[in-house]
Order: sequence, then structure tokens, then C-alpha cells
Amino acid sequence: MRAAVIGGIGSWLPPGLVSNDDLADRMDTSDAWIRTRTGIRTRYFVPPGMPTSRLAAEAGARALESAGTADADAVVLATTTPDRPCPASAPEVARRLGLTGVPAFDVSAVCTGFLYALTAAAGMIASGAAEQVLVIGAEAFSTIVDPHDRSSAVVFGDGAGAVVLRAGDPGEPGALGRIVLGSDGSLADLITVRAGGSERPHPEADPGRSDPADRYFSMRGREVFQHAVTRMSQSAREALAHTGWRPGDVDRLVGHQANLRILHAVAEQLDIPVERLVVHLDRVGNTAAASIPLALAHAHATGDLVPGARVVLAAFGGGATWGATALTWPSLKAA
Ligand code: COA
Repeated sequence: MRAAVIGGIGSWLPPGLVSNDDLADRMDTSDAWIRTRTGIRTRYFVPPGMPTSRLAAEAGARALESAGTADADAVVLATTTPDRPCPASAPEVARRLGLTGVPAFDVSAVCTGFLYALTAAAGMIASGAAEQVLVIGAEAFSTIVDPHDRSSAVVFGDGAGAVVLRAGDPGEPGALGRIVLGSDGSLADLITVRAGGSERPHPEADPGRSDPADRYFSMRGREVFQHAVTRMSQSAREALAHTGWRPGDVDRLVGHQANLRILHAVAEQLDIPVERLVVHLDRVGNTAAASIPLALAHAHATGDLVPGARVVLAAFGGGATWGATALTWPSLKAA
């Protein structure tokens, strides 16, 4: 059986650094509230007109460089904020990278999107359909957040992270273990953009059927918090069972970077010391599908994640969706 092995990693953040104080100038919030309730200090917002495909291509180029290649047999993009509702953005990302002609598609699973995208790419490798796949998580979440909704406007940020998956052996460093995934459609209203799809028109298209606020992202934060802790802990436990590792064997827990209190609660549930958490949200906020690859790239670049480290990835997102996997961190070139 061929395994999918991480062979390169890269990330990119847009230029617009936004501090908590910057947000407090625009809405009724404070640096103290945001830091203590979420752990977030700064995030980056795209300038007007910078599409998700640009972020994705920048991160993808760096991941390819880290893998020492300019080629991929496919591009899989996890995003909640595609350039347009139709078509998918991955073909444009492939074009930007000089990969026109390869299969390219988007995966939509909100904050779990990167784990779903890894699954699709790993399946292509296992079946022999591809030798090397570029997997990207990229978001311009600031373009869908309601600027007047303080509970979500302070949480999200923009950015992109990517890995190159290549065919390899199950026992080698970087080989992905079983990716545990799940979903529950009855929780669709917890994290949603209500209008603009087939169910409910965009408010400007049919003001009678949609509220103006329905065009924006909305989240029932407190409920999401509880589900995130439960599902991330449960799926991480399942992923560990597949590898045969015990919680004490885990060197680094890379949870979806939504809220520092969620990460601490997951670590506590799993009996993993909080010192083993990779924390990146303080710099970039919640970047949804980009969150895990951004955290991995940062931890790799700063030496927080070293070759041989036993790593668990876990996420929860809209849908609801969730997932986890485990791997031994490989030796990679930083990019
Ligand atoms: N600044 C100041 N006060 C704020 C605020 C802000 N930015 N946002 C909310 N508040 C207030 C609320 O109005 C409320 O006030 P009240 O008690 O007078 O009614 C109080 O703070 C508590 O609100 P609540 O929504 O219960 O806060 P919370 O502690 O749950 O934190 C989140 C809100 C969004 C940070 C938190 O719920 C969270 O992180 N949820 C999960 C988010 C997530 O994981 N999303 C992505 C998963 S895919």
C-alpha cells in the first residue's frame, strides 16, 4: 500500500496586519476582551480585491519550493471563501502556478477543510492516480465576516498554508496515518452564510426573501465552542488508536486554531500537557481551512516542530465537520 507523505510545506500571509486595538477603534470591543476570551493578538486581512487564489498560489509556490519541485499532478484547494461562487478557485491557483492542465478542485468543509483535502489527495496517491499533489488551505475570511458582528469579526483572519503530498512508504517520516473524518448536517446553522446559495437568494437579488445580514458569515460561538472541544478530542483519540500511540507519546498537538481556550480544553481532555500545543492563533487568528497548514509551517520554520516529532492534527468546522490524523514530522526544507 502506498502512503501519502508530506514532502514540502509553505505558507503566506497578506500584508494587512490588524491588531486588537485596530478593531477596538472600529467596534465595541477591547484588546483585553479579545486576548482573554480567544488568545488572539493580531490577524491579517487581505486588501480589497486580493482573491483567495492569490493567497493560495503564494503558499503553494513556497510548498513546491520546499519540496524541491515545480510540478504537481493535481491541486486540491480547501477554502470557504473561493474567488467566486462558481467556478472553483483551484484551476485558477493551478494556472497561477504554471500548472494549467492538471486536475484541480476545491474542497468545502470550512475549518476542517484542510483535513478533507488531505484525504482526497491521499486517495489519489493511494489509487495511483497521482504521484505528487499540492494541497492548500486558503481563506480570505475577512471578505465574508460581518464587520458589525463583534463576536466573529474579532476572531477570523486571512492567510494560506500548503503541503506537497508525494507517494511513499507507510513507515517513513511524513507519512499520513489514517485520517478520521465526520460530519453532522443537523448543526449546519451553527456556522453559516445563509444567503447566496440555492436555498436562499442573495439579499440584493431578492430583498423580500433574504435579510441583508444573511449575506455575511454568522456563528453561534458558545455552541460551536462545546462541539469543537468534544469532536476534536474524540477524533484525535480515534486517530491515536489507529497509530497505536498513547496521549503521552504525542510531542505536538496541532489543533484547528480557533480559540486558545478550545485548544487548552482539547489538550486537557486528551491528557496531553498544554506545553505540547502548537499555538499560532495569537498571530493570525482563526484562518479556517488555512489554520492547520499555517500553524504547521510556522512551527516548522521556528523549530517548534522538529523531524521525528509525533504530531496529531485535529479540527472542527462548519457543516458541522471534524477530523484528525497523526504523523511523524519529516525533515523538510523551510520555504
Ligand atoms: N468584545 C467584547 N465583548 C464581546 C465580544 C467582543 N468582541 N464578543 C462578544 N462579547 C460579549 C457578548 O456580547 C457577551 O456579553 P453579555 O454577557 O453581556 O451578553 C459576552 O461577551 C460573552 O459572549 P459569548 O459569545 O458567550 O462569549 P464567548 O466567551 O463564548 O466568546 C467566542 C465568543 C466567539 C470567542 C467563542 O465562543 C468562540 O471562540 N467560539 C468558537 C469559535 C470557533 O471555534 N469558531 C470556528 C470553529 S470552526
